[in-house]
Amino acid sequence: MTEPIDIRADLYQEIILEHNKKPRNFKVMDHPTHFAEGYNPLCGDHLTVYLKVDPEGTIEDVSFQGSGCAISQASASLMTTSIKGKKVKEAEILFDQFHRLVTCALDPKKDPHQLGKLTIFTNIWHYPARVKCASLSWHAMHGALNKVQKVSTEE
Ligand code: FES
Repeated sequence: MTEPIDIRADLYQEIILEHNKKPRNFKVMDHPTHFAEGYNPLCGDHLTVYLKVDPEGTIEDVSFQGSGCAISQASASLMTTSIKGKKVKEAEILFDQFHRLVTCALDPKKDPHQLGKLTIFTNIWHYPARVKCASLSWHAMHGALNKVQKVSTEE
């Protein structure tokens, strides 16, 4: 008898590998309106998120730069593609939903959300160290929007 294939795990691996190999919006931004450096004290990795927000509160551009494992790089890449073009308020809602997803406080099958592709991180809460990797760029983005220029995944 063949083992059932875990589609979500396959999809997770495929998307992580692809975004790690070709991270989107991986660059230092000239003249950002907001930026913050995220730090993961568990491994020592740093990553900076840059944003350009227009006067109406739309995120015109977003990028990141820094070192980290495949999960942190892929998650940062996905974060930038998820919030580009969105209103600051919408990005903050996504931050909250993503944070609840990776800490098992949001069930994507039952709870309302706008996470889309980001639900590939649904089961990551089984690996607490990996939760920090996946949320590093999100904490940096949230810090940047709130004018906190250094954030740690421990806070
Ligand atoms: Fe450092 Fe994942 S091991 S961010």
